[in-house]
Amino acid sequence: MFSRRFDMGVKIGGAVLGASVLCVFLVIFFGVRNTVADVGYRPEQPVPFSHKLHAGQLNISCQYCHAGVENSAHSPVPTTQTCMNCHTAVLPESPKLQLVRDSYEKGTPIEWIRIHKVPDYAHFNHSRHIRAQIDCKSCHGPVEEMGVVSQFKPLSMGWCLDCHRNPEANIVGARPISGVFTGQMHKVKDLLDSTYLYKPIPAQVAAASDLKDMVTPSFGQKQSPLPKYHVDGIPHPKKAGIGPENCSACHY
Ligand code: HEC
Ligand code: HEC
Ligand code: HEC
Ligand code: HEC
Ligand code: HEC
Repeated sequence: MFSRRFDMGVKIGGAVLGASVLCVFLVIFFGVRNTVADVGYRPEQPVPFSHKLHAGQLNISCQYCHAGVENSAHSPVPTTQTCMNCHTAVLPESPKLQLVRDSYEKGTPIEWIRIHKVPDYAHFNHSRHIRAQIDCKSCHGPVEEMGVVSQFKPLSMGWCLDCHRNPEANIVGARPISGVFTGQMHKVKDLLDSTYLYKPIPAQVAAASDLKDMVTPSFGQKQSPLPKYHVDGIPHPKKAGIGPENCSACHY
């Protein structure tokens, strides 16, 4: 019926069409996936807030804004009130802070775009990690150097397990800027009040006279023995195989 040449043309045409459809699909699929959750994901936020300025230059502790990370699963993004602790006085007229002032006056939260997210079928709990003196930097990278926060680690199952199997290679020990408990009280310089003194749990502002060296770390009401091992020069509770590897620990 048709000439062999025509037949061949149809086959090649079909193959090319199929290949390009596949390409387009892959580009869209991975392109979209990439902006959902992956290393480097860096959405544009409603307010041009800079960690580099606030945490890096002004030296505000992570836990001043992300309070509660030591004793709850989540590390909430700060409320507008936290911003206004300073910004009623600092740059009260700045156009960059208009949305913050609006939010404050109307009592509506700022709609920050969520960056880090593990799927619902997997469970991650901040407090257990923070209490084991694992610094934010281990999982979020050098946030205090980031103008805009981006995802630093893949948050994949392999990534979780890598650290659980081999913590020494993956853990950055607690640093004062993060306010992560080190077994001792430490000071974090702050703009407002010159010093904040972080007690392990709850993180609180203590009077200088309350300042005592911790002998034994106290997690909540429980006392646990002093850490024996050191990671990055920081004592760490256990040496190896400390994070769970059984499926039910993370999937239930
Ligand atoms: C401890 C005090 C403090 C807190 C809390 C604080 N800021 Fe700031 N912020 C500052 C200072 C100081 C500057 C820099 C002022 C300057 O450049 O002279 C600044 C600058 C800014 C700027 C740049 C404004 C401009 O016109 O350049 C933005 C935007 C901003 N802050 C947003 C926020 C948001 C959003 C929050 C709450 C999540 C917040 N800040 C919490 C102290 C604070
Ligand atoms: C002055 C308040 C402030 C301080 C201090 C601060 N943050 Fe934030 N952080 C914010 C705000 C506001 C957001 C949401 C907007 C954004 O992503 O930049 C945020 C977002 C984040 C996110 C991304 C959350 C998500 O959606 O996945 C991480 C991770 C984070 N901060 C870690 C840190 C670490 C680590 C430190 C200390 C080195 C720190 N922050 C210090 C206010 C603060
Ligand atoms: C062991 C790794 C690890 C450490 C340490 C860690 N984070 Fe996270 N962080 C995560 C993961 C994983 C998520 C995503 C959690 C989810 O989807 O439920 C996350 C999410 C967040 C978010 C987004 C809101 C939320 O709670 O889901 C903020 C803000 C945040 N982390 C701040 C911090 C700060 C501040 C510290 C240090 C005090 C810290 N993180 C320490 C792994 C870590
Ligand atoms: C940087 C190292 C590191 C990373 C990354 C990490 N973990 Fe862990 N995880 C630990 C350590 C260390 C412990 C043990 C803490 C202790 O001694 O109490 C732990 C404990 C746990 C526990 C047991 C405590 C509990 O809450 O029941 C769970 C569950 C857990 N991790 C889940 C995860 C998940 C899910 C991820 C990935 C999204 C992850 N971890 C990533 C180091 C890590
Ligand atoms: C330390 C925590 C942890 C443990 C232990 C764990 N998982 Fe996961 N798992 C995760 C996280 C986090 C994800 C989400 C990964 C992502 O978003 O890419 C995941 C994803 C998955 C997925 C979805 C497919 C994929 O790879 O993305 C399956 C299936 C799964 N896990 C099965 C298991 C089984 C079976 C076990 C026991 C052998 C197990 N998991 C143990 C944390 C864990």
